[in-house]
Amino acid sequence: MLKVAVLVSGRGSNLQALIDVCAQADFPAEIVTVISNIPDVFALERAAQADIATTVVNHKEFADREAFETALQAAIVQSGAELICLAGFMRILTAGFVNRWRDRLVNIHPSLLPAFKGLHVHEQALEAGVKVSGCTVHFVVPDMDSGPIIVQESVPVLPSDDADALAARILESEHRCYPQALRLIAEGRVEVVGERTAIKEPAK
Ligand code: GAR
Repeated sequence: MLKVAVLVSGRGSNLQALIDVCAQADFPAEIVTVISNIPDVFALERAAQADIATTVVNHKEFADREAFETALQAAIVQSGAELICLAGFMRILTAGFVNRWRDRLVNIHPSLLPAFKGLHVHEQALEAGVKVSGCTVHFVVPDMDSGPIIVQESVPVLPSDDADALAARILESEHRCYPQALRLIAEGRVEVVGERTAIKEPAK
């Protein structure tokens, strides 16, 4: 069983998708801790409901990013996690932290990267007039919203869409893609080759 730490900052619907898939018999990963940088978010409640240990590492209580990340690192190491999944975690991580977890730190982003990085992703997509958007699960590298892509799924952009409608449709796809990516990683089927991944066939 691959031990996973999930880092959150908010509502935690992607966390829920991961909790649900980990509850399936034979799923090869387990969530050992959920860590939030913001107190009292709904994601923490979801974790508690599932009997998963939670920790708040409130970035506001630390003098700088390094001090915050030292506490974050300590909480993760203490949990025994071997993989970190960022699930709506809205703090930028330093290169030092990211490099320490190289190829063991995964993020989900609500666009088809490399299109539409950063914030206001759906507004960016509507502004560009794209007819498809989607989501991306990728390994994290120091450059924001970059790194080897593990799973992507496309989602249509409809003429009537506003940012909320598009976000909701993409979120449904996120809830399929993140569990799928976690399974691939936990089954040892994701190989990082330079700046890309190669997905291996399942073991017979
Ligand atoms: C998700 O749409 C996720 O892709 C996005 O935040 C949302 C979190 O929702 N993440 C980012 O934009 C990261 N750059 P959730 O808390 O319900 O999982």
